[in-house]
Amino acid sequence: MAKIKHNRDAKRQLGQFFTPPLIAKNLLDAWVLRADMRVLEPGFGKGAFLLPLVEAFMRLRNADLAKVLNENIWGVELDKDVYTWTLAEIERRWGKLPDRHNLILGDFLDPAVLAGYENRPGDLLGSGMGFDLIIGNPPFGGTVALALQDELERRYGRRHGCKIKRESYSLFIVKSLELLKDGATLEFICSDTFLTIPTMRGLRNALMEEGATTVRRLPEFSEETKYPMVTMRHVRGKKADEIVVDGARLKVSSIRCTGNLSWQVSDDHSVLFSGGVLAEYIVASSGMTTGKNEYFVRELDDDGYFDE
Ligand SMILES: C[S@@+](CC[C@H](N)C(=O)[O-])C[C@H]1O[C@@H](n2cnc3c(N)ncnc32)[C@H](O)[C@@H]1O
Repeated sequence: MAKIKHNRDAKRQLGQFFTPPLIAKNLLDAWVLRADMRVLEPGFGKGAFLLPLVEAFMRLRNADLAKVLNENIWGVELDKDVYTWTLAEIERRWGKLPDRHNLILGDFLDPAVLAGYENRPGDLLGSGMGFDLIIGNPPFGGTVALALQDELERRYGRRHGCKIKRESYSLFIVKSLELLKDGATLEFICSDTFLTIPTMRGLRNALMEEGATTVRRLPEFSEETKYPMVTMRHVRGKKADEIVVDGARLKVSSIRCTGNLSWQVSDDHSVLFSGGVLAEYIVASSGMTTGKNEYFVRELDDDGYFDE
């Protein structure tokens, strides 16, 4: 019993919800991979994306596993058990692993991991390498290592003047943005809360400042989590003037009318956020109470009004 609870806690701390293979396949099928592409899956778990990627690149690289795992595919995973499982699965399917490869057992958020891969435009020393595609399903609600918190705050704590929440998936997204080449794509599965939740305001702002984003709701995800999930595709490039959510084009100017930069506001509703705010006129509070409903509930008269 205690072991089950421990496993469940460890799983939650790692934000470990694996992507069903069919969902990963559908996302990957949209990609035409090339033999010269560099692809990263941070937090690769049991290889939902990684294994089909190896398969696809093996076709493109004449079944040369050493080339695929040194020149095309990078992955990072923190959980030693699932890391070991996935590497064993690669060996089972494609033969012995090369002595060197880019599948790292470690913390993706650790600045030392993938150091030197950041895209630094104009970096004459050429250390800015960047990835063509970063794909996966970052840990949601996972724990951020205590030892890294100050450094992560310094590096990623603010973007374009807004606060970035110190939460596993927002930090995975911000670090990934830095690892993309210009014009390259980040494709992540996320909880739909990130479209509107006030604490992710800074993340939405960063995504609007740094490229074009398209979000699609996933009709269903998996038995492991009941959270509604979305896919978020972000192409690094020039500042966006619209965000596409489930086919609806939301103007960034409308989004900016809402205090929390909501990605669920329609152009019609955005006008409601212009002008003064109620707080300039009244102090409102809310709460929940039980009993004595007559103190709080009013009967409407025939015209639908009540006297106060
Ligand atoms: C939501 S799961 C997704 C796994 C896999 N990408 C998939 O789509 O099935 C997130 C994965 O990230 C791993 N993880 C959590 N925190 C991590 C970190 N700081 N660095 C690297 N991996 C991490 C978890 O162990 C888990 O395998």
